[in-house]
Amino acid sequence: MARCFVTRELPGAALGRLRAAHDVDVWPGDLPPSRKELIAHAREAEGLLCLLTDAIDREVIAACPRLRAISNYAVGADNIDADAAAERGIEVAVTPDVLTDTTAELAFALMLAAARRLPEAERAVRDGEWRTWEPSGWLGQDLHGATLCVVGPGRIGSAVARRAEALGMEVVAVGRGDSLVEALGRADFVSIHCPLTDDTRGMFGQAEFAAMKPTAILVNTARGPIVQTEALRSALLDGRIGGAALDVTDPEPLPADHPLLEAPNLLVVPHIGSATHRTRERMADLAVDNLLAAL
Ligand code: DGY
Repeated sequence: MARCFVTRELPGAALGRLRAAHDVDVWPGDLPPSRKELIAHAREAEGLLCLLTDAIDREVIAACPRLRAISNYAVGADNIDADAAAERGIEVAVTPDVLTDTTAELAFALMLAAARRLPEAERAVRDGEWRTWEPSGWLGQDLHGATLCVVGPGRIGSAVARRAEALGMEVVAVGRGDSLVEALGRADFVSIHCPLTDDTRGMFGQAEFAAMKPTAILVNTARGPIVQTEALRSALLDGRIGGAALDVTDPEPLPADHPLLEAPNLLVVPHIGSATHRTRERMADLAVDNLLAAL
């Protein structure tokens, strides 16, 4: 039996299976443990099941001398120092595949909402501004016939590309070694699906926004720091791009008084790409399976 620390209660019954096999301490809070609390609880642990909100950096890893396995409740692992874990021979696991289609669906929910101005139109109804059927009211953009640039054609990017083709969009995929700027110039919609790495951090800045069409809509369901927040804010305020729909931000969470929220044509949701009942339970099952296998 190994000692395990789980940094949050998870949906479904998966943690029951971990509890049946090991000595499990689950962080009771609704918010993530602070760094100090994380270290205090993980110090004696051999297994750690953590969330993308927990920074498992070199210092945390060094503070946990018995740690043998880290299971992340996410497909992205940018919150974990992979080199520091590898140096100690600690296994690191993530939850791929189970959230691919769910996240691709959210990318389309955002794309359609931004293209058809749903937040604005809905607000108009509630504000009593729906006076009649207006020939020129709330005009948006079509997805069919439009070109979508998929940045990062991996599992989720490919799922987005398949859906885009079914909707009659032309897809331009940008992977490693492809010219992002050239593809951006052709795109009506741009959807980001690459992982956050040293290479992709800040990938979208002034030059990239300048390369986009003034009507283009940016969708980010990957990681916030891939987009330079200030550059995005200026691009929206100056009308250099048509709009943005974000599931992820930098910083995250985005405070309600953050200057980015002053920008027009911006839709932000709170990192809900994988947030369906079934998918979050499947992620919990996989994260627990991963930890059990590694231990
Ligand atoms: C992930 O898994 O990396 C998502 O951001 C949350 O599901």
